[in-house]
Amino acid sequence: MKRREFLSVILGILSEAAISPSALANPTDNIQDFFTMCTVALSHEYGAIIQYVNHAGITKSKKAESVFLKNMLDEVKHAREIAKILIKEGGFPSAGIWPYQTDKKLQKLLQYDVDLEVSAVNLYSRMLEAPEAARYRDTIYTIPKDEELHKRRLSNLLRTIKGASAEKGSSKAKPSVP
Ligand SMILES: [Fe+2]
Ligand SMILES: [Fe+2]
Repeated sequence: MKRREFLSVILGILSEAAISPSALANPTDNIQDFFTMCTVALSHEYGAIIQYVNHAGITKSKKAESVFLKNMLDEVKHAREIAKILIKEGGFPSAGIWPYQTDKKLQKLLQYDVDLEVSAVNLYSRMLEAPEAARYRDTIYTIPKDEELHKRRLSNLLRTIKGASAEKGSSKAKPSVP
């Protein structure tokens, strides 16, 4: 299968809502080609940007909104960097978008974002193993570090929210004092 056909298959899959959780967690698992990994990475960054903008619009929590927007700005930077690598590699940055996920509940939104960051770390860790990555090591090396930071911000917030709702639940469960 030629690269062009391969990419259209990948991007076709990405446009479908039904995608397996394992494929979402390890986006480049079955991909060896550096150029294709960059294309998937770019689509992953686009999906992350949309997901964060969507989540920032949905949540009523100012703290969560600020975390979503802070992370989103880094994803814009990553997308630009990966697009530049694709150009240098003689290709063209695609506009395929990784499937983003959304919900009404903040806990669920945060969990989707943590999952997204885990898959981003997996993706860039694999990219760094490719020999071609050496040419862009300075750029690519910093990206998974940013993704780890995003994950930490989200996980901290998620822990706080889970703790607060557990506390609320237990105080409700307490018998009323006569
Ligand atoms: Fe990113
Ligand atoms: Fe991220």
